[in-house]
Amino acid sequence: MAILVTGGLGYIGSHTVVELIQSNFEVIIVDDLSNTEKYILDGIQKITGVRPVFYPFDLKRRELLTQVLEAHKIEACIHFAAYKAVGESQEKPIDYYENNLFSLINLLQEFKSRNISNFIFSSSCTVYGQADEMPIWEETPLKQPESSYGRTKRMGEDILKDFAIAHHKKVSLLRYFNPIGAHPSALIGELPLGVPNNLVPYICQTAAGIRACLSIFGQDYPTADGTAIRDYIYVVDLAKAHVAALKKVIHHKTDSLIDIYNLGTGKGSSVLEVVKGFEAANQVRVKYEFKPRRTGDITIAYADVSKAERELNWKASTSLEEALKTTWQWQKHLESRNS
Ligand code: UFG
Repeated sequence: MAILVTGGLGYIGSHTVVELIQSNFEVIIVDDLSNTEKYILDGIQKITGVRPVFYPFDLKRRELLTQVLEAHKIEACIHFAAYKAVGESQEKPIDYYENNLFSLINLLQEFKSRNISNFIFSSSCTVYGQADEMPIWEETPLKQPESSYGRTKRMGEDILKDFAIAHHKKVSLLRYFNPIGAHPSALIGELPLGVPNNLVPYICQTAAGIRACLSIFGQDYPTADGTAIRDYIYVVDLAKAHVAALKKVIHHKTDSLIDIYNLGTGKGSSVLEVVKGFEAANQVRVKYEFKPRRTGDITIAYADVSKAERELNWKASTSLEEALKTTWQWQKHLESRNS
């Protein structure tokens, strides 16, 4: 029996594939390479000694998905494949709805009539919007996400809840806070595509001299240093949470059809703390200037992670400093690869 990992060569997907293989799962990857490169598969192989079966296609091609499901005995699916750039989603909302929702619907159309009972969905804390109280727990009321990207995640969750109930399948909705860092081997990490939107990749490229200066969006938030607060979780810790969620559903340790978990560290860090932390961890300078707030940004988000700790027996254990070191090591790897 194998685990189908869609988007398995992407940032979180590739780290999860490594953890799955190291936990002795057989992995089948589907990825259309729209936001990654095939050499990540080499990195997975170098780390684990296993080269998973890989199908390069777009999940909107349902006939190709059917072929994969006929060729392999699939026990569960972890679905990462999606467009994920918040700003881009505002410019191309229909592309985001088409890609993120049609892929999901094709998977569910196939699974509803097959004996594949476990589905793990890559969701986001964006479904909470600016929550009224911190920390955010799974019962915190959902708000309309600010971006079309966020709305595809919210809609995806709703579709999966209906699917679980109507077809009696198990669904886990994993709401990530802010994933950062790269594998400690520096053989896989987030591939830069154009100008980064996210804070840590932008800091890293500024330190590397690829970007002239980091813009810190907003110095007037009602926080201790005036910059916005997020919960930055190390990507390998996040990947391990997927394995824990998978084990829970396939070993029937849950009666509920729908399990929802916040995946973060439980600790908020400000933008300035991350910048200073990066400088200290890696002994580099990051040039920055303050700019007005970015449209759609919230002030503060950090997770209550007690449910995941209790029910998945999982806890993020890597410090912000360690995670920021791996980001820099991955940057060095990319530079040596390009030279
Ligand atoms: N920031 C800067 N400068 C930058 C980039 C970001 O100051 O160049 C700030 C942002 O304004 C924000 C913080 O750093 O205050 C974090 O920004 P990110 O873009 O790294 O992360 P977000 O919290 O905005 O977005 C993340 C995920 C999204 C998800 C969202 C949910 O990237 O996929 O959390 O809240 F939708």
